[in-house]
Amino acid sequence: MEYELAITGRNPPAKYVYTNSINPSQDPSIPLPLLEIPVIDFAHLVAPSELERLRSALSSYGYVMVTNHGVESSLMDRVRLVFKQFLALPMEERLKCQKEADGFEGFGSDMMVTKDVPVVHDFSARLRLTTWPEDKRQMKYWPEQPHDFREVLDEYSSKLLVLHDATLGAMARSLSLDDDDSAFLNAVREGGSISARFNFYPPCPTPDRALGLKPHSDGTVITYLLQDGEVEGLQVLKDEQWFRVPIVPDALVLHVGDHLEIMSNGEFKSPVHRVVLNPERQRMSVVIASFPEEGIQIEPLEGLVSGEKPRLYRQVKYSVVDQVGYYWSGTRVTDDARI
Ligand code: OGA
Ligand code: NI
Repeated sequence: MEYELAITGRNPPAKYVYTNSINPSQDPSIPLPLLEIPVIDFAHLVAPSELERLRSALSSYGYVMVTNHGVESSLMDRVRLVFKQFLALPMEERLKCQKEADGFEGFGSDMMVTKDVPVVHDFSARLRLTTWPEDKRQMKYWPEQPHDFREVLDEYSSKLLVLHDATLGAMARSLSLDDDDSAFLNAVREGGSISARFNFYPPCPTPDRALGLKPHSDGTVITYLLQDGEVEGLQVLKDEQWFRVPIVPDALVLHVGDHLEIMSNGEFKSPVHRVVLNPERQRMSVVIASFPEEGIQIEPLEGLVSGEKPRLYRQVKYSVVDQVGYYWSGTRVTDDARI
């Protein structure tokens, strides 16, 4: 695969290269500022004050670091390790999980729908696997090597399923949707799905001319990100300035997705973020993200629309292919849906 050229320290091929520096207004000798990211103690989310901190952070920026989330750090380490071991396998072993050109699951680069439009490609590769519901798992894409990959992902995804559901419940409570804690959760539980994405970012000798992931917001309900333990790379846009997301050992980064922004009638914001590359070191991350059912209509919850809070979004149909289109064209479903 082409992205592997970079591992040898060579410059990326032309299709990955931006003609302008990715930070045109920034003096390249000054690193971007580090984000002060709100930390939410999940074990304390029953307390009204912690719920209010969660609501406030998600309403202003749409991301938080979550600690005390119930996932042991040894399990997080094993998740990182099995992916590193997978990446170190001979190419022919990895290709057993290769994604089909127009498919979503498996290992490879992301699907493109705008084939005729000249776009700069992401300098990264990913392994994407549906983890929930279990009957939607496509086991042929789940690596058999390393031997414990499947077991580790199964364990991690079941822990994240519990955390995911509790998070959407807490989010609903934080907006005083008391009578129905499951208002957001239903969008996933009723026909939706959860998938894991293992992201791999090779080192890149020209990090100001290529990106691991272009600026985007997640076309998800919510996203939980397990970062690389050593190498930074994630950046978020806040007040039109890029900030580096710090590595907080044992914490998980939580992002509001576009569909939750719509369902919450804009009470929660889906943040724009990107991944930059490191000149010497590779980086990895593991995302667990939830999605609505293909074809269902997403719209603001009735309980969040009122005289003081007029409806901000029209109904939009959830479609995976549309999401891919938004990503590659640098647009967002939230802009399309905005009234
Ligand atoms: C993503 C994403 C960030 C990262 O997969 O959508 O934004 O740090 N990942 O890999
Ligand atoms: Ni993202």
